[in-house]
This record gives sequence, C-alpha cells and structure tokens, in this order.
Amino acid sequence: MPEEAASGNTPDLESLHHETQTFPPSKEFAAQANATADMYDQAAADPVEFWAAQARDLVTWKTPFTETLDWSGAPVARWFADGTLNAAYNAVDRHVAEGRGDRVAIHFEGEPGDTRTLTYADLQRETSRAANVLASLGVESGDRVVIYLPMIVEAVVAMLACARVGAPHSVVFGGFSADALRSRIADAEAKVVITADGGYRRGSASALKPAVDEAVAAREGAEATSVEHVLVVQRTGQDVAWTEGRDIWWHEALEAADVLHTPVWVEAEHPLFILYTSGTTGKPKGILHTTGGYLTQTAFTHKFVFDLKPETDVYWCTADVGWVTGHSYVVYGPLLNGATQVIYEGTPDSPDKGRWWEIVEKYKVTILYTAPTAIRTCMKWGEDIPNRFDLTSLRLLGSVGEPINPEAWLWYRRVIGADRTPIVDTWWQTETGAIMISPLPGVTVAKPGSAQTPLPGIMADVVDDDARSVANGGGGYLVLSQPWPAMLRGIWGDLERFKDTYWSRFRGIYFAGDGAKKDADGDIWFLGRVDDVMNVSGHRLSTTEIESALVSHPMVAEAAVVGAADETTGQAVVAFVILRSEFADGAVHEDVQELLRNHVAKQIGPIAKPRTILVVAELPKTRSGKIMRRLLRDVAEHRAVGDATTLADASVMDLIATGLTRPT
Ligand code: WTA
Repeated sequence: MPEEAASGNTPDLESLHHETQTFPPSKEFAAQANATADMYDQAAADPVEFWAAQARDLVTWKTPFTETLDWSGAPVARWFADGTLNAAYNAVDRHVAEGRGDRVAIHFEGEPGDTRTLTYADLQRETSRAANVLASLGVESGDRVVIYLPMIVEAVVAMLACARVGAPHSVVFGGFSADALRSRIADAEAKVVITADGGYRRGSASALKPAVDEAVAAREGAEATSVEHVLVVQRTGQDVAWTEGRDIWWHEALEAADVLHTPVWVEAEHPLFILYTSGTTGKPKGILHTTGGYLTQTAFTHKFVFDLKPETDVYWCTADVGWVTGHSYVVYGPLLNGATQVIYEGTPDSPDKGRWWEIVEKYKVTILYTAPTAIRTCMKWGEDIPNRFDLTSLRLLGSVGEPINPEAWLWYRRVIGADRTPIVDTWWQTETGAIMISPLPGVTVAKPGSAQTPLPGIMADVVDDDARSVANGGGGYLVLSQPWPAMLRGIWGDLERFKDTYWSRFRGIYFAGDGAKKDADGDIWFLGRVDDVMNVSGHRLSTTEIESALVSHPMVAEAAVVGAADETTGQAVVAFVILRSEFADGAVHEDVQELLRNHVAKQIGPIAKPRTILVVAELPKTRSGKIMRRLLRDVAEHRAVGDATTLADASVMDLIATGLTRPT
C-alpha cells in the first residue's frame, strides 16, 4: 500500500494560477550564455555518454573512469565506478594547482558585521589543517562525522576536511533540537561531532554546544554514544561546558596542525555524505550520496543553470549548509567551478530588513539563489526597502524549495532583477542531489510559476495512477524514468525502505512524491507534495514526525497534523489534538497551545513548531482507521469541508466544527 494513499492528497489542478506572460531571453544574455539549445539534442542522442563527457570535463580524476553507468544493481546506480578522485581536491586544490589560488572563494559576512575573505589558497590551507586534525583524532576513510554549525566559514571547511579524508559528513541543521541531533548521530554512528559554542541569530548569540552535550551524553536505556570527540569552533565566545578528553577547541587544534595534507583518493562510489530528511514516517531518512556522480551533476548544473562565469561573477546562495541546497550550491557546485561566493551567517532582517540588499550592493553580487518564502517575505516588507540599494550588479536570479507562485516570480524579476534578469525556477530534492528540472538561461522562454523542462540528460515525466505518461494539459505524479549521476544511492542502513519509498509506487521508475501538471506546451508545473510531507518555508517536515512528537507529551492522546496553505511560508503546520481524558474536560490548560508548541520544538526543533494547535474531541477517520487529513486541511484552510462519506462516523466533522467555534 503506497504511503501517500492514506493522506488523500491528490494534486489540485484547479488551484493553479495561470500566468500567460512569457519571458524570452534577451539577445545580450543569450549571446554570452553557457547553455545552448543543442545541449538537449546532444544529451538526447546518448544521455549516458553526455554525462561521461561532463564528468571528464568538469571533474578532475586521479584515475580516469572507463565505465559510465552500471544499472544492473537497480535501484542502486553506479556511475563512473572504476574512476578515483577526491571531492575536496576538486573543490579546492586543483584551483590552486592551476594558478587560481589568489581568487576569492568566500566573502564571509557575519551577522554582527564581522567579515572574512578566503582565497582558494586560504581554503586549501584551512581544509588541509582540519583534515590533519580529523586524521589525528583517528577519523579514517568511511568513518562518519556529524557537523552541527552555524553558517560560518568553518562549516564549509569542516565538510571539505571530511571529504579530504574520505569520511562521509552528516550535517545537521543548527535549528534542530538535541533530540533530533541525538537520533541522527546514533543512526550515522558518528565518531566525531564538529560544532561551535554558538552562532549569531537575530542580533544575539544563540548557543549550539549545549545541544551537542545533551545529544552525546549517556542516557539510561540508550546505547552508549559512538562519539569519541567533539571539535568546538569558537564563534561567539559564550561560556561552554567542557568535557576533558572529549572536547577540543577547533582553533587550537588547527593552529597546531600541518598545512599540508594529501587527499585520500576514493572510488567514485565512495560515500560523500549522508543528509537526513523528513519522509512520510516518523523516522528521518539518511539520504546517501556518493562522490563521482554527485560532483559531476552539481558542477554541471551550477555552471549551466546559473550561467556561472567564475572570473567575473559573485554568486550568492542564501541556503544554510544544513540543507541539501547548501551542500550542492554553497559547497560542492560553486567550489568545483572555482566561483567567488558570498556566505552570510544571519537572518535577512538583522539588523534591519535591508540586510540582504545591502550585501548584494556591497559585494556586487551577480547571481542570487534563494527560496520563494524569502521572496514573499520581502514582498510583504515592501519594495521600497530593496529600492534603496544598488542592485544593478545582479544578472541572474534563482528560486528553489517549493513552487514559486507567479506573483512572487514577477515581483522578484521586476523589483530585484530590474525587469531584466532571467529567473531559474529549479526543481530538485535532497534525494536527487542536484537540479533536475529548470529553465536554461539564455535558451528557455521563461514562464512564471513553471520549472518547465528537464535538464539535458535528465528524463522526467508526469504519469497517472497507472504509470502512463499524461498528455499535455493533464496532471499526475512527477517521476524520473532514467538514473541520473547525482541520484541518492540509498537510505543509510535501510535498503528496503529505499526501495519501498521511491521505487515501489511505479515499478522501476523513481517516484518523487510531487504532484505536477504538463501544460499545452509540455512544460512542467509543480503542485506540491502528494504524500505526508509538508513544505514550510522550503523546509521539509513530516506530518507523522510531528504527530509522534505531540503524542509523546503526557497530555496528548491523539494528534493529526496537516500542512495548511500559508501566504508567506507556503504551508504552515496545523495540529489537531485530542487531550487525555484527565486533561480534556473543562480543566484545559490555558496555555496548552504554547506548552505543546514548545514540546515539539524540544523534540524536533523550532522549525517544526505548529503555527496553530486546535484541541478537538474527535478526529475524522476512515473505517480502516486512517485519519482523513484532507478534511482537516479543509478546516485548517477555512474551507467548506469536502466529501466525508467514507468516514466511519459522519458526525465527527460537525463535532470538530462546533468544538472550534465554541467560545473559550
Ligand atoms: C519541493 C530542496 C516546486 C518539492 C532542493 C520537492 C519544489 C521538495 C521546487 C524537496 C521547485 C523544491 N518547484 N517544488 N522549484 N524545489 N521543491 O529535499 O516538493 O528539501 O519534492 O530539497 O521541495 O525538498 P528538499
């Protein structure tokens, strides 16, 4: 039984706003673009050979590969399998070796206004030192290292240092709680954790180390932690608890370490990283990516989708390295291509709502890659804020994380892009590793709101329930019908779940979990998730995971969570809870909402806090006991409740409705 069937969440074709304006590339842009229209034909003629050519062109191999794709172990692909290489060598050392050592790799801007500039040569010294430190701590090729850091230079250095020694990193977003961190450390069996005392967020120092202390502490009934050492970056200077023998200051260890380090050459299929993401069940999935194919596709997409000119562009992707966008388009893609990029630690409204645009002006950013939720927030703040800054350096804008509504697209282009810049709406997932569907700037006639076309070498389609390709104008499920280089190689430690989640819905083809529609020209429009995954501010959250967190509170008997449409965040978490009888009647805690919201923050992280918690007496269930989230979504979105005929008890929705209107 496919997991998504229970949610009753079928793509809603009617909800799509139709925007008929199109934006052909300007002659000037097209004339200088990296991408050309004939790339599609080249790739279509022989997709596997197309990727082999990219791998030879964009990646430096220690041992060249002779085989390109081995799909005999499907759904686990092997790309370029007999080649050897090192990801950090590709991201850093080869630029220095080829005379680009003086080029700025990173312009770092801290939230308090402190800055740091690192050239590729600087980055080589730092990552080599950090790699030597890891090696001295006994980290060997294949050992896992968890990274729990703010958006500071050390996050990039730490990831590359892991790659240098062949140790897969698993970055955990700094907004996750100690509990979430603990379960990820345990699942990955990490040997070392790299963290910081804290980071700056919204004008104050926010601690990180206490969560690590809690996550690795011995706990009754739990297995002893696998973590032998905690490396601590000093960022804020705030007080930290210290465990002698286990904790080590990053700056002290790096200072003492040699600046030379020989990268560990690994096979193309050697694991590069594990990144945990929400699925449809309570347990996050450790998405596994390997080296050769991942690097090939991140470098390729970064070069052609963002039209990167490494000598002249200043690129800025606003994502945190805790998410896949930060992995592929802050660390590996841009650095492989020798880009100069901006990294900013803080929030867009610190110290004021002009901060992002001030950064664009200051560093003369030419390429900006961000999320629709950020664009909508800026729209809300008003265009006179960006209008105060000189944004004329911008020449290309990108969007990722959720469907961008045409209004936001048009605003982004007009206000930020001076009615001139191409916009690339890029669809992809943690699982795909790199961009899959996107316009090609200089080639594609852009349509606001549509991600449009599978990239050259990518085979995507929209199919119906029986896996039949839908005709133009039809809607259904987005699938990927051929293996691609950066595809996930599995879920860490759980091959069965990998097969079940992605490969069982439609036999032999990859099911992405997204609803989509093809328009009259065959362009793809995304309609949101069709499973129990929510998308809040471009962050993936699982309904089940939040439900589990809620019912783990002693007051809660049952919980159902839905993602309700939200103007700014795309979706918002709305929870319906039934309290245990001893709390249910009359004596309901005044602050039950706040209590439960904080409980979810403690269990998962502040990003998972429900926007609204509604206390109800019953939940709508089918006769087989499945919660009908579709009906709850109707309530949460203030709509007339839809067809409730399959409910076991038809009066439940009335009960919920009356319960909600009852004055408190
Ligand atoms: C959604 C983020 C529409 C989609 C890179 C996908 C999008 C999920 C787009 C993956 C887009 C991402 N248009 N939807 N341009 N980009 N999504 O793993 O639902 O955090 O399945 O990867 O985000 O989220 P993830």
